[in-house]
Amino acid sequence: MLSFSRSLRSPLPRSAYLNGRRCIASHPSSAPSSSETTAPRKVSFGFKEVPEESKESLVKGVFDSVASSYDLMNDASSLGVHRLWKDSYVSELKPGRKGPMRCIDVAGGTGDIALRILDHAREKYADRETSVAVVDINAQMLKEGFRRFKKTMYHNTPQISFHEANAQSLPPEVFPDNTFDLYTIAFGIRNCTSIPSVLKEAHRVLKPGGTFACLEFSRVNNPLLSMLYDQYSFTMIPLLGTILAGDRDSYQYLIESIRKFPPQPEFAKMIREAGFVTGEDVDGGAWEDMWGGIACVHKGVKL
Ligand SMILES: C[S@@+](CC[C@H](N)C(=O)[O-])C[C@H]1O[C@@H](n2cnc3c(N)ncnc32)[C@H](O)[C@@H]1O
Repeated sequence: MLSFSRSLRSPLPRSAYLNGRRCIASHPSSAPSSSETTAPRKVSFGFKEVPEESKESLVKGVFDSVASSYDLMNDASSLGVHRLWKDSYVSELKPGRKGPMRCIDVAGGTGDIALRILDHAREKYADRETSVAVVDINAQMLKEGFRRFKKTMYHNTPQISFHEANAQSLPPEVFPDNTFDLYTIAFGIRNCTSIPSVLKEAHRVLKPGGTFACLEFSRVNNPLLSMLYDQYSFTMIPLLGTILAGDRDSYQYLIESIRKFPPQPEFAKMIREAGFVTGEDVDGGAWEDMWGGIACVHKGVKL
């Protein structure tokens, strides 16, 4: 089902226990959060500052340009490591373990995460009812995903659907409140203009007890690893972008946007400000670093 829905549009004590693990929550308050008070007119587009209203179309331009070579470039630039990160991200979420789940994969692009969720549920738990709604702002990326799913057993089943929509304003008529058990967003949230708006929407569409899980490039704290990683990414990735995709600028943006994304504790705080409960502010608590923080999974639960 390729449905292009084109609308682009609890108080807890500060410390509590969830499934036996210490976790923390922000008291939602009527005062705007630190991330909302500044309401900047300019936002980062990679290392550039651009007017807030133009970021969305600039990001769209990047993904229009990279859509057809996106999967190949992902493999080439990460030497296949993104597959390991995505495998680990999905298997830790154990989709299907407690029975069929309704999942939404936002900024789902070519469907990498959706496919893993459905495969995991089927292969591990013989579950053929878990479903994923793939949402992306970019029709070209969704088209690649749709084509890819045509080769799978999920094509033309209620297990998969594709929707063109903005993560910051999911259309409520397609994605009502309290609908999903699992919300995933992988390597997507840093491209969105307003991270708090994305988190607010994630909280809205999840059922109470539902999980928010974000896989994103993050902050490397080891100085040696950080230096090597910078060397590699700022030289090799734009070069590979030129050779394999004929597009240096888009890959330069993708690298720069990683450096502008908030570090782990700051992002965990934003997740709590949206109303989720997270683990403590340590690796292994609110977030799990992968490869020293090159990538990182943040999780939150809606109570
Ligand atoms: C780097 S790709 C990640 C795709 C996929 N999740 C993966 O891990 O392979 C980022 C995706 O975010 C999408 N995106 C950017 N801004 C968005 C927004 N505001 N709403 C929804 N999707 C967005 C882009 O179109 C792109 O497909």
